[in-house]
Amino acid sequence: MKSYQTLVEAAKTLAIEAARLVSSSQKRDFSMTSKSSINDIVTDVDKAAEAFLIERISTLFPDDSIVAEEGGTRSGTSGIYWVLDPIDGTTNFIYDFPSYSVSIGVKEGDNTVAGAVFNIAEDTLYWAGTGLGSFKDQERIHVRERVPIENSLIGTGFGYTAARRTAQAKYLSTLIGDVRDIRRAGAASLDLCYVAEGRLDGYYESGLWPWDYAAASLIVREAGGIVLGPTSDLPTAELTVAASNLELATFLKDRVLPFLPFADG
Ligand code: IPD
Repeated sequence: MKSYQTLVEAAKTLAIEAARLVSSSQKRDFSMTSKSSINDIVTDVDKAAEAFLIERISTLFPDDSIVAEEGGTRSGTSGIYWVLDPIDGTTNFIYDFPSYSVSIGVKEGDNTVAGAVFNIAEDTLYWAGTGLGSFKDQERIHVRERVPIENSLIGTGFGYTAARRTAQAKYLSTLIGDVRDIRRAGAASLDLCYVAEGRLDGYYESGLWPWDYAAASLIVREAGGIVLGPTSDLPTAELTVAASNLELATFLKDRVLPFLPFADG
């Protein structure tokens, strides 16, 4: 059985290596194809970074399982799952808009036990391990001190289909008047890390994938924050909420829940 520390160190190293591959490809011509809608893009850089990570993990931990955004999977026997987003914020990567990451979560059962999110534009690594705390590079990070909901800065994101975005705009309209302001930076893993380090008070989104939130949900928790899903403290694809405090997390969850599930799945 590997220790959480071993998994954390491996996740950190792999995130740094994959981030180097991604950033060195930023200035070259890369190919793009569409996925769920014409605006849901994958580049050959996403695919190359994912192939690199799968190859490395398969060599280092041959008994572990892997699930990754661009379709890579591997079935292992150890009960440990690596959940990979080779580029979270691909649209930002394409535009050179400075919010995109490599996100690596390591799960044991339902729980993430190690996580690393490399913020490529800022050249910084967020990381955490169960019981080990959350860090940005070498510095311990903490969520922001609790403020009233009306003074809370909230991040969110939108999906790729018109039906989903229209629904998301509807529930956004039920809360935007009750908080300080809304930010949409374009990479869910980093939005969650921003909650962990106090750049945001809270964040919510419906329609994420496990690779968007696996690593960073642990980083929020280990930084003293709250993470919720629709029915428990497990974030899900249907709803992921994070906040510096339970009151704000519950407020965000309660505003979104009446709109779920989405008609488009
Ligand atoms: C997307 C980003 C975005 C969020 C979307 C995700 P991708 O991931 O995290 O911020 O709003 O829901 O799908 O497609 O760039 O890996």
